[in-house]
Amino acid sequence: MDPVSFPFAHRFDQVSGSAIREIFKVIAQPGMISFAGGNPSPDALPDQMVREIASEVLLANGKQLLQYGATEGYPPFVESLKQYVYEQLHCDIPAILPVTGSTQAMDLLCKAMIDPGDTILVENPSFLGNIQCMKLYQANLVPVESDDSGLLIDDLEQKIIQYHPKMLYTIPTFQNPSGKTLPADRRKKIAELANQYHVIVAEDDPYRDLRYEGSSLPAIKSFDREGWVVFLGSFSKIISPGLRVGYVAGHPDVIRKCTVGKQSTDVHTANLNQAVVDQFIRRNLLPDHIRSICAGYGEKMRFMLKKLSEFPGEVHFTHPEGGLFIWAELPEHMNALKLLPQAIEKKVAYVPGTHFCVNGGHENTIRLNFSNSSMEQIETGMDILNQIISNNL
Ligand SMILES: Cc1ncc(COP(=O)(O)O)c(C=O)c1O
Repeated sequence: MDPVSFPFAHRFDQVSGSAIREIFKVIAQPGMISFAGGNPSPDALPDQMVREIASEVLLANGKQLLQYGATEGYPPFVESLKQYVYEQLHCDIPAILPVTGSTQAMDLLCKAMIDPGDTILVENPSFLGNIQCMKLYQANLVPVESDDSGLLIDDLEQKIIQYHPKMLYTIPTFQNPSGKTLPADRRKKIAELANQYHVIVAEDDPYRDLRYEGSSLPAIKSFDREGWVVFLGSFSKIISPGLRVGYVAGHPDVIRKCTVGKQSTDVHTANLNQAVVDQFIRRNLLPDHIRSICAGYGEKMRFMLKKLSEFPGEVHFTHPEGGLFIWAELPEHMNALKLLPQAIEKKVAYVPGTHFCVNGGHENTIRLNFSNSSMEQIETGMDILNQIISNNL
């Protein structure tokens, strides 16, 4: 075909979407040990339970589920979801909208709030999918400094004063990609700053139930007084990412704008999928299911951390208490992008950390996922990485 120069919208100017796609092509090769993705383990996907529930809800209410539904959500699910989120967050949930994965929550929130050139403060590194989303809305992304526990409040306040941002995007629990968890006092302070300076906080918390150690922390949302914090939740990591069911909870005015934005995106989230998640909540199936997932993931995380402790002393890494990822910093002179072909040749894949960094850089970092490999694969793959890094010291 002859090359054609299509007049694509400028919103794509900063977004290529190509770097990671290449890595994911490689992961698909047979025999590859992949620490690269963020997928739940196949063992954690409750296919039998979903099959039974889907069949029951279709028998009971098939015609309604297969018909168009309300953008506001499948009514029984909205009811059970509201109660579920209230119990999770221990705070009033004045409005909630079921969405097609929490990815859509971020898209709708940006659609509702962000004009081209608006500043969004972000953790650095941060979740690639939502960095892409914010860039597509032509936001000016400004990174906020972090320490081992996450966002630094002094830097956050200074940047709020300096940049007058519309929004802060944060993943406070078992952050993707760093695995860090923000302590309660900083969560409270973020909510206070949001209320004081009138900054929307997008609190993206899809990993909060995947805790293998320590105890649960209050959501930033639970400290919110006026409604500046918007909570983005997901059932992807605790039931199934393929169902694409998440939610956005917050002030009724914000949720209303998201609802209007959703009308032209997908009209509504699939009724059948909402009904399945509704039954997981109503039948109280989540606690046992989450417990069983966490047992396996916790074991894998501890084993990967143990293997990392055998790496040369110059390699530093986070010590998450849950989630799916560990973040490692190799010695300053190493370049994880350049080491990747050596790892791939030996059938091990990871994602170089630079891909998660808002302005690039940080080439000596890597993100490691442990949930989607067996213990044997973690043993073999980590030994290979250890050897490659030791050889390049
Ligand atoms: C921090 C974060 N937010 C959102 C998502 C997307 O979740 P969902 O499947 O609900 O769209 C992910 C998925 O990996 C994630 O890591």
